[in-house]
Amino acid sequence: MSAADSDSASPAVGNALDRVLVLEMVRVTEAAAISASRLIGRGDEKAADAAAVEAMRAALNELEICGTVVIGEGERDEAPMLYIGEKVGCAGDDGPKIDIALDPLEGTTITAKAGANALAVLAIAEKGGLLNAPDVYMDKIAVGPGYTPGIVDLDKSVTENVTAVAKEKGVDPSEIIVCVLDRPRHDAIIAELRGLGCGIQLIPDGDVAGVIAVTDEETSTDMYMGQGGAPEGVLAAAALRCVGGQFKGRLVFRNDDERARAAKWGIDDLDRQYDLVELARSDCIFAATGVTDGSLLDGVKRLRNGTITTESVVMRASSGTVRWVRGEHRNR
Ligand code: FBP
Repeated sequence: MSAADSDSASPAVGNALDRVLVLEMVRVTEAAAISASRLIGRGDEKAADAAAVEAMRAALNELEICGTVVIGEGERDEAPMLYIGEKVGCAGDDGPKIDIALDPLEGTTITAKAGANALAVLAIAEKGGLLNAPDVYMDKIAVGPGYTPGIVDLDKSVTENVTAVAKEKGVDPSEIIVCVLDRPRHDAIIAELRGLGCGIQLIPDGDVAGVIAVTDEETSTDMYMGQGGAPEGVLAAAALRCVGGQFKGRLVFRNDDERARAAKWGIDDLDRQYDLVELARSDCIFAATGVTDGSLLDGVKRLRNGTITTESVVMRASSGTVRWVRGEHRNR
């Protein structure tokens, strides 16, 4: 059975995520990516982010949903648009109740510097289906599909995790490739990986794409390790719910203010190690459009005839369907 067949066979009833929303999600991430792309390489992170936010918000407000942003641009007093708790969609209270995790521009610095892997990203789920992660850091570890459940664990050392993955893959630990955000806070992880002889793919930013890369054999990335944004962790987990693979995340609190934020969003166990299903609980849809070229998607291109091209991916957990969507946009 092809992926498309399996999706059409999956039940849509009893699930607020109407199948129609799958393609609607792409419209939303396309709008954000096209808008942000005008600022690629212009050295202005804030302007690029603002362009993406505004376009994503306008597109979300055209959807027949009663949506709530649960992961967004920040809290109401710090973000004018797409703040946590903001209602989006035009269906009113009778429409399907949808929770939305979004990052209109994942990779603001990347975009400003015209680097690789900037994305417009969102995930949606039925109400209560996504962890309302506060904007703090998260320790993350991920591995692609096909490994024994629980093979990676944040309570194990770098060496233990790599050795376990290498053993199941049937290779020496030195043959394992690990993606890590290039940050001083990762010096100890990097040193331990170097000691094992692993290949380290150091990325400057963009750990949503970094985590998703472990699910794609063509990237040759076996594992993802390190600390990045918690919102990005939930978004990446939603993607892995759809395509398989394992992900573990633990919130990292640097001060009382961050701990208070967690309490506000109903998180009481601050040391908990979350797995995929705890981060993205119910059926969910994940969509992303490339802003700049990257390992997952090509970026926005402007052709000489005025056409704008986009590349997007949209996936759904309940069916496991993954669709790659190439858009050609005229008259924009
Ligand atoms: P922004 O798009 O908000 O700039 O985030 C980019 C990013 O690299 C994320 O992918 C990652 O999770 C986070 O920043 C890491 O945070 P920091 O730059 O503080 O290390």
